[in-house]
Amino acid sequence: MKKYRDIVGDGGSNIVGQVEEQQSRLRERLTAVRRIVAVVSGKGGVGKSAVAVNLAAAFAREGSVVGVLDADLNGPSLARMLGVRGRTLKVTEAGVPPAMNAQGIRVMSMDLLLPSDETPLSWDATTQAESHVWRGNMEANALREFLADTAWGPLDLLLLDLPPGADRLITVAGLVPSLSGTVVITIPAEVSHLVVKKSITVARETRAPILGLVENMGGYVCPQCGALGELFQGTGGEALAAEVGIPFLGSVPFDPRLAAAADRGVPFVTEHADTPSGRAFLDIAARIRFALFAPSPSSSPPPG
Ligand SMILES: Nc1ncnc2c1ncn2[C@@H]1O[C@H](COP(=O)(O)OP(=O)(O)OP(=O)(O)O)[C@@H](O)[C@H]1O
Ligand SMILES: [Mg+2]
Repeated sequence: MKKYRDIVGDGGSNIVGQVEEQQSRLRERLTAVRRIVAVVSGKGGVGKSAVAVNLAAAFAREGSVVGVLDADLNGPSLARMLGVRGRTLKVTEAGVPPAMNAQGIRVMSMDLLLPSDETPLSWDATTQAESHVWRGNMEANALREFLADTAWGPLDLLLLDLPPGADRLITVAGLVPSLSGTVVITIPAEVSHLVVKKSITVARETRAPILGLVENMGGYVCPQCGALGELFQGTGGEALAAEVGIPFLGSVPFDPRLAAAADRGVPFVTEHADTPSGRAFLDIAARIRFALFAPSPSSSPPPG
């Protein structure tokens, strides 16, 4: 049996031609998208998806047309968090229109394409040793396909919710040359800061500007009395942002209702805008909006 390395050229599949064709379709689709922002963190579980969902809802509240792409192919969570789980996507000649949630947010996720809850996405490699490279390549190919085939229509903002790992941003920045910026998420714990610093170094290697750092779970809001207590001991996100020289976008306190809202498929800001965490999301969205769409250098940013 031939191994792929024995095949001369592309084995007659014109793979290079196919990739080029997809990449040009991707570019064409994204011309109708005004701004594209990647939500990143080297660290897992710090709230990238929660931030992406609530930023999307905050922009939608202000009348923006927003899409969110779940770039986490192995552990997709956005369809659930935005309440579109179980929708079946139709393939049309013009591509695959994304699912639309109750707030009008367009959602594309691997979750909407897998046949059942138990089906994991697996990347078959020829050998164990090759599996890492193979997975990286397969992920990049799948993302390219996602971006090339999703019929977003005109959008003001497309948010890309990335899986953990700094290398993921390099892949996405390569696929999306028109990336407008990145938002980096951390929690106020030293272990997170160490990893997040690495992501910031990687983000600097892309052409897209770093819009700023969001500190998630910065304290705990008591649901009974509303007081803000400390959750993690360690340097805050604001000090980290100052240390590495990027803007600090704000701190979102931990609120148990946020996780409950995500599990019910409703963005937290939609139901709880007037809470410390809700206001934090709205303020962060306002700062990002300003960074992305500021009309002139003479206008002043929202107060921080
Ligand atoms: N500020 C918060 N208050 C309460 N719960 C939160 C908050 N932020 C995130 N969560 C919850 O914490 C869990 C992890 O968050 P989330 O899935 O957004 O992290 P993530 O960084 O996207 O994870 P992954 O690395 O797996 O993609 C979720 O259940 C989410 O609802
Ligand atoms: Mg996530």
